[in-house]
Amino acid sequence: MFNKNINYKKIKPNTEFIAQNIFYYKTVNSTNTAAKNTDCKSGTLFIAETQTNGKGRMGRDWLSAKKNGIWMSIALMPKINAEHINQITLVTGVAVCETLIGMYKLPFKIKWPNDIVIEGKKVCGILVEGILEKGKITKVINGIGINVNQKNFTAELADKATSVYMLTGKKTDRTEIINKFSEIFEKYYNEFLNNGIKNIMVKYRDLCVTLNKDVMAIKDGKKIKAVATGITENGELIIKKEDGTTMNINSGEVSVRGIYGYI
Ligand code: BTN
Repeated sequence: MFNKNINYKKIKPNTEFIAQNIFYYKTVNSTNTAAKNTDCKSGTLFIAETQTNGKGRMGRDWLSAKKNGIWMSIALMPKINAEHINQITLVTGVAVCETLIGMYKLPFKIKWPNDIVIEGKKVCGILVEGILEKGKITKVINGIGINVNQKNFTAELADKATSVYMLTGKKTDRTEIINKFSEIFEKYYNEFLNNGIKNIMVKYRDLCVTLNKDVMAIKDGKKIKAVATGITENGELIIKKEDGTTMNINSGEVSVRGIYGYI
């Protein structure tokens, strides 16, 4: 079961459309790119054992250790305006966090905008990309990377990254997380489509470790010292700068660090 390929036949969540259709790859450049380039139904899951060009936020690379993590993308076709794409990131963050808390009974949290963290380290990253035609969204690619069975990380990542195995000492069959996540994500995604982000934001704010923290926002190489005071419903972080003025920052252009470390 472990250090083996995912048995994708065991991906059978109790859902209406999330992960009901699956594209499985041993190797792919990026599941986000595969999802972008493949005609498919809303909810289709693209999953790989490893990615040769895994993508992170802000043009960063995403390391996708073979057979140890969950490297997946869900193609979605929501009827929403382009400015609301970031809200899908918030919905996904809440769904991943709730999945992991439910399965492992550990205090997983969200570092704004969408890192799932615990004990000061990152266990999951989310990269949501929208495909627009004539200013309208035709597809949203919800890319999720979860560190599951890694025993360790390179020296460069060791103080920033962790895995479910490193936290629990137990290896997990990755299909269990995928099934659980798909069910919880479908519930929140439907809530989002039917009623908007309002109720989900209550959960997001509750789980978010960035709120009320001293932060360093880095915009175009310039460092801004501030306190994170709120999150708007479009997913922008509200920060209060040292001169007392406030500023809304967008996750696409600004990176945020804790003053004393990653969180
Ligand atoms: C981040 O924290 O910077 C976002 C990381 C997102 C990684 C996932 S892995 C599956 C999907 N395919 C990609 O190329 N990226 C996302």
